[in-house]
Amino acid sequence: MHVTLRQMRVFEAVARHLSYTRAAEELFLTQPAVSMQIKQLEENVGLPLFEQLGKRLYLTEAGDEMLRCSRAVSRQLKEAEEIIEDMKGVRRGRLQVVVASTAGFFAPRLLTAFAKEHEGVTISLDLTNRENVLRQVMDNETDLAIMGQPPEEYDLESEPFMENPLVVIAAPDHPLAGNKRVPVKRLQDETFVVRERGSGTRGATERFFREKEITWKYGMEMTSNEAIKQSVMAGMGLGVVSLHTLEMELETGRLVVLNVAGFPIMRSWYLVHRKGKRLSPVAQVFREFVLQRASEVWQMPQVA
Ligand code: PGA
Repeated sequence: MHVTLRQMRVFEAVARHLSYTRAAEELFLTQPAVSMQIKQLEENVGLPLFEQLGKRLYLTEAGDEMLRCSRAVSRQLKEAEEIIEDMKGVRRGRLQVVVASTAGFFAPRLLTAFAKEHEGVTISLDLTNRENVLRQVMDNETDLAIMGQPPEEYDLESEPFMENPLVVIAAPDHPLAGNKRVPVKRLQDETFVVRERGSGTRGATERFFREKEITWKYGMEMTSNEAIKQSVMAGMGLGVVSLHTLEMELETGRLVVLNVAGFPIMRSWYLVHRKGKRLSPVAQVFREFVLQRASEVWQMPQVA
């Protein structure tokens, strides 16, 4: 059955008025144009939709059925129109964000602040390490990503929005705690608890020590910043983590940041998506939000 939306609109008007003339007036058409549309529709359907008894026009049984269906279609179309209008105004929609695990210390605050201003938006947040973030972005599995500076060989759009200082942490009773200026060479005598390969923090730390020509000893490897902090607190050695991860520990004094020459290693957080990706209206608004408001929503922990 080949029915056009225009035929349905004309049909609904005739069925509502039960008059070709009044339907024509409502639609600003001539009466023969209306009859022609109905005739074509009846041909397409293969049954008469109206019958004329005396002067009055009636819907046939097929006409009744057609009217029910065509009203349902109109309602659905209207609903789709409203949803799309909402999406344009960002009252609804889905937002998928993947962040490097370290960004998990501040990303929930950003998303919460955003969600409060856009209540109809459903948000999903995935935390994983830098390598997996890159894979998800390249496979187009996410709207936006938050990570350290992405490698240049990938075809990505990336915008920095906040600093990410990496610092050396120790238990408060560590011999280097409170030392005014620890020479970076001194770190060669220490053992570090480190993040897994594929972590941005790990990569940046390795680069730093390589440039300074320092061999750093590491013991345990761990896939989470939380686990590193716990081990350092327990006296397993030193750690290099993002200052963003230390909000609680610095406040309670359970960890200290060592004052080592050359530290912090200064990195930045980037908002990333694949080049050429068409961002949804929600993703566009979230992008703006992060670029403009991140440092107001999230305050970097302070080193005492
Ligand atoms: P992570 O850090 O992968 O060490 O969690 C994020 C990054 O620096 O890209």
